[in-house]
Amino acid sequence: MSIPFLPSMIADATLSPQGKHKIDWVQAHMPVLRRLHAQYVQQQPFAGLTVAISLHLEAKTAYLGLVLQAGGAHVVMAGSNPLSTQDDVCAALVAQGVTVYARHNPTPAEYEQYLHKTLDTHPDLLIDDGGDLVHLLHTTRQDALSRIRGGAEETTTGIMRLHALARTGQLRFPMVAVNDAQCKFLFDNRYGTGQSVFDGINRTTNLVVAGKTVVVVGYGWCGKGVALRAKGLGAQVIVTEIDPIKAIEAYMDGFTVMPMHEAARQGDTFVTVTGNCAVIDEPHFLQMKDGAILCNAGHFDIEINMTHLRTIATRIETVRPHIEQFSLPNGRTLYVLAEGRLVNLAAGDGHPAEIMDMTFALQALALEHIVQHTGTLPATVLPVPRTCDVYVAQCKLEALGIVIDTLTPQQQAYYAGEHA
Ligand code: NAI
Repeated sequence: MSIPFLPSMIADATLSPQGKHKIDWVQAHMPVLRRLHAQYVQQQPFAGLTVAISLHLEAKTAYLGLVLQAGGAHVVMAGSNPLSTQDDVCAALVAQGVTVYARHNPTPAEYEQYLHKTLDTHPDLLIDDGGDLVHLLHTTRQDALSRIRGGAEETTTGIMRLHALARTGQLRFPMVAVNDAQCKFLFDNRYGTGQSVFDGINRTTNLVVAGKTVVVVGYGWCGKGVALRAKGLGAQVIVTEIDPIKAIEAYMDGFTVMPMHEAARQGDTFVTVTGNCAVIDEPHFLQMKDGAILCNAGHFDIEINMTHLRTIATRIETVRPHIEQFSLPNGRTLYVLAEGRLVNLAAGDGHPAEIMDMTFALQALALEHIVQHTGTLPATVLPVPRTCDVYVAQCKLEALGIVIDTLTPQQQAYYAGEHA
């Protein structure tokens, strides 16, 4: 089926050369995706299909879009966060034939309109990050369901929303939980978030980390990475948790564990990364030290109760790009980075390219899996096939020039229970 030309909606098409440089740079550091690109040019697994993507629209995501396009797809992209879209990257994508509905810092109405525009194309496949496209397809945009074969979800928060739909039997098409693949959460959530959160904090504040007390709220895969990097930079690290097992894990990993109402008094820098709401809330703000810095790395900007902070503040001022200063009635000052949105994406470039190489290869393979099994997959949350996970790891090792051992026949027999 031929896809009609669709005019994009972006900020400035003249920024394309600058965006292309950014995409070229990440492409050079994404060997697994490059390999898929070469295969897709030959095999055309997505020929004639429209893929709607809602992801943080920066260079690595752009390259994923181009890889799918090389496989024959018509690619339509929108952002998954108002502040993470990079206008030059959008321009470069449009110059290469991708349809883009996104610009940096749109109004909430524009942001929603862009998501709707991607669904107006009646896509066959989708990639979601946080679950906004899927939510629309199950509420106001059921008209766009007709051709959907399935999709893939990028992040923990989106998977939680998918499971909620699947539990009540409402999910209308198969969704592959890319976040839950080992080649995703072990590297992207842990090492990607760990590094890029401090990249975002450091480039925004230009302050030292060594010697400071960093409070990491949530010790899941992302929290582990943030705590590890904070320690590596010389900080004292406090972890807060609600899960007893994660709390012991944090303790055994060498971190101090305490409830938020105690940590609030001690922290110099707070990083929320729970996927939960109001984990820094009303009682905490007035307990914090003068000059404390707050930021969030969880998917939605709901982890720090910004509404309450804005209500109690006597004065709010932007003191540097991405830094808001809140003067409190007790005479103290707090600083919030990137309006409480994902600090690594809203005030940085997101995860390193080498990490997203694996995540986005999984995204492409998940879509291929859906195409290959169209009509046979149940409308539920599906794991990434183990073969895809292993394939991505093998390609990555190969690209890194690392060779590993293989089982000997004797070891295979031993594993198979054929003991002497
Ligand atoms: P996870 O489920 O592995 O960990 C979340 C942790 O937060 C759990 O251990 C949970 O017990 C804890 N938690 C929940 N409520 C809490 C509370 N009130 N106080 C303290 N701890 C609490 O999830 P993961 O993969 O670490 O993701 C966390 C968030 O980060 C999600 O919103 C996810 O979508 C997002 N994410 C962000 C990325 C980024 O680039 N910034 C990258 C990947 C995920």
